[in-house]
Amino acid sequence: MRYKMIAGNWKMNHTNQTAKEFLKELGDLSDVQDRVVICPPYIALQDMVELSDVPIEIAAQNVHFKDTGAYTGEVSVEMLQDIGVQMSIIGHSERRQYYNETDEALKEKVLKAVQKDFEVILCVGESLEERESGQAEAVVKRQLLTDLELIESDSTHLVNIAYEPIWAIGTGKSATNEDAESMCRFIRETIEERFGKEAGETMTILYGGSVKPETIDGLMSEPNIDGVLVGGASLNPESFLRLIHYKK
Ligand code: PGA
Repeated sequence: MRYKMIAGNWKMNHTNQTAKEFLKELGDLSDVQDRVVICPPYIALQDMVELSDVPIEIAAQNVHFKDTGAYTGEVSVEMLQDIGVQMSIIGHSERRQYYNETDEALKEKVLKAVQKDFEVILCVGESLEERESGQAEAVVKRQLLTDLELIESDSTHLVNIAYEPIWAIGTGKSATNEDAESMCRFIRETIEERFGKEAGETMTILYGGSVKPETIDGLMSEPNIDGVLVGGASLNPESFLRLIHYKK
């Protein structure tokens, strides 16, 4: 099903204690129809799962592609599911950039996730240099086709895509509504080409990169943008509440 999703990526921010306070401050959101996702650091996942109420879903920021083994510092899908987490971001540009995460590794992560009936928010997006040289669509298409190479169309309901141009992340310089819409439409077309019309029509595609309370309404009014993945503006309850209650 194609739903709307407001997702907060906390990155390496908030302790377990401040995460719990954040949830309390959000208060009752039971009237919200959209999916609301918070991705805290691993350390806060379990308490947040226990304390959060509908519609809030708690997701991880990364996950490994093996079940168990000698992978120091890593966490598996099964470990997340064991504490009630059913979704993870994967392929965030910060992971690609600082931890050398490659599309080759990401396709294994997507495969493992869908095999375990676990949902992903797969991030794709071009650098400034790539955009300026007219390669943005080619880069995003290559990322999508490689990262999703090992799955079939009967698993695409477990995949959400976040278009996050690298130059817009944490810079205060968001893509324009038109550019974000245009790339999200292109992503939908690419999904359709690869997995069929239904997969394209039903896939939830998010935009991320300097989304703020002041900019969300316009983004959410675009036909191919089904939601947002928000870093900085998701860290404070007031700002996150405003994002959740964007104007329809
Ligand atoms: P930002 O981060 O909203 O702080 O730009 C977005 C993201 O990295 O997901």
